[in-house]
Amino acid sequence: MSTRLSAPVDVQIELTQTCNWQCRHCYNFWRPAQTTTNLSQHLSCDNIIHIVKELASNQVPSITITGGEPFSRRREIFMLLEMTKKAGIHASINTNLSLVGKEDIEKLVDEYNNVSILFSLLSADAAEHERLAGAPSGTYTKVINTAALIIQRGIPVSLNMVLMRENLHAMEITARLAKRLGTRTFCATKVLPNTHAPDGTLLLSAEEVHWSLAELMRIEELLDIPVDILGCYPRCLLVGTSAHQRFSHRTCVAGYTTVTIGADGGVRPCSHMEMSYGSIFHEPLIDIWEKMDGWREGEFIPEQCRNCLFLSACRGGCRVNTLTPGLHNMDFYADPQRLTSLPQKCLTPRIPEETSDIVAKSIMCPQVKFRKEPFGALIYTTNPLAIMLVNHSTIDFLMNVAEKREDFDLFSFLEQSGARTEAERRGVKYLYQKLVRKGFLITLTEHERR
Ligand SMILES: C[S@@+](CC[C@H](N)C(=O)[O-])C[C@H]1O[C@@H](n2cnc3c(N)ncnc32)[C@H](O)[C@@H]1O
Ligand code: SF4
Ligand code: SF4
Repeated sequence: MSTRLSAPVDVQIELTQTCNWQCRHCYNFWRPAQTTTNLSQHLSCDNIIHIVKELASNQVPSITITGGEPFSRRREIFMLLEMTKKAGIHASINTNLSLVGKEDIEKLVDEYNNVSILFSLLSADAAEHERLAGAPSGTYTKVINTAALIIQRGIPVSLNMVLMRENLHAMEITARLAKRLGTRTFCATKVLPNTHAPDGTLLLSAEEVHWSLAELMRIEELLDIPVDILGCYPRCLLVGTSAHQRFSHRTCVAGYTTVTIGADGGVRPCSHMEMSYGSIFHEPLIDIWEKMDGWREGEFIPEQCRNCLFLSACRGGCRVNTLTPGLHNMDFYADPQRLTSLPQKCLTPRIPEETSDIVAKSIMCPQVKFRKEPFGALIYTTNPLAIMLVNHSTIDFLMNVAEKREDFDLFSFLEQSGARTEAERRGVKYLYQKLVRKGFLITLTEHERR
């Protein structure tokens, strides 16, 4: 498949640079220069209109509203939600929840019920959370009460705990809180370096990373709560451990599927980076996207990674997880030497697991949208987790059955694929299962029930 998508799949929009907290770990590059909130920038209503037009004309399926604290710009956040709703773009919000009032919750529930929320919490110990977030006393209680209210009203909420040396011990109690609240997912995300702590004092050691991932899997089983990480790790750190199987779905997507639009209009491959490739107010999004080809062509892959077995899956880990400035540096956690000491079976690429045959007949879900791509298409629905890339023959088949509203089964899907060998057929069965799992294909009985 060609590596460049026609446009991003998800765009992070930094609505504002203002924030009422002072998290010591916050990656926002503008923070050190910002002595008062008056200096910070935000997107105006006109800016928002311009941005959403650009996103809609490029069929961008989803956005993440972030900042700064997006609820410090109430008028603009609701305008952005309104415009994206009209354009059929899914929105999720990253927030610290401390500025969300009852009337905001009512508005979200009544008018934007398709939105999802990721909120930041650094510990279920109130004093520890407030200390690490640089937030006033009482903030913790407000945040937890707001989260509980939003969840009660049916909006999907996930909790993101940024892991640093100081709060590692609080993983289980924070996950227990997430479970009690009823969050959709408990995310435990390693802290990335930032300009306020460039010496890496906040960063986890490799041993602490291993421990935290094992702990996350233990918590998943113990509490029966979905868990995730919102960053990526180099494969050479994880191969040979159970965390490799569990968390290798996360790789760097900067410039591949996502970009960030800053409050000044600058378009960046990653929220953690200051480098902009152009302003959305002066150039079409698509032109700026094209300028990021280097990200897709491996321009910033470190020299030591070039001959690595895992390069295509790993892409050299994270480009900002380094202690020295520059994009060519090895990820702080990369350990290529470790690969040489592992048994051969750990180094062979994984093939899709044996899949059980799905016998029921299916139909394409009527809400599925397609975006043509050079290699085939991007298919998606308003569910942010339902996004897949498929090749030409698959998309031709799917569009044909969708147009004729025809039902079909795994057998006809296998037929159209032309798969011959056992491994190819297994790959196609896996694809079919994924289409069902993500809700692109629904069984006839389910369709009738709807
Ligand atoms: C910059 S915040 C902006 C939105 C909102 N103020 C919040 O805290 O959720 C976006 C996300 O980045 C996470 N984050 C902040 N600094 C980070 C860092 N150095 N490494 C990893 N994640 C970080 C936050 O926890 C949050 O989930
Ligand atoms: S609340 Fe969010 S934007 Fe504000 S300082 Fe913390 S991480 Fe940064
Ligand atoms: S050597 Fe580089 S490409 Fe290979 S696993 Fe490590 S970070 Fe990834």
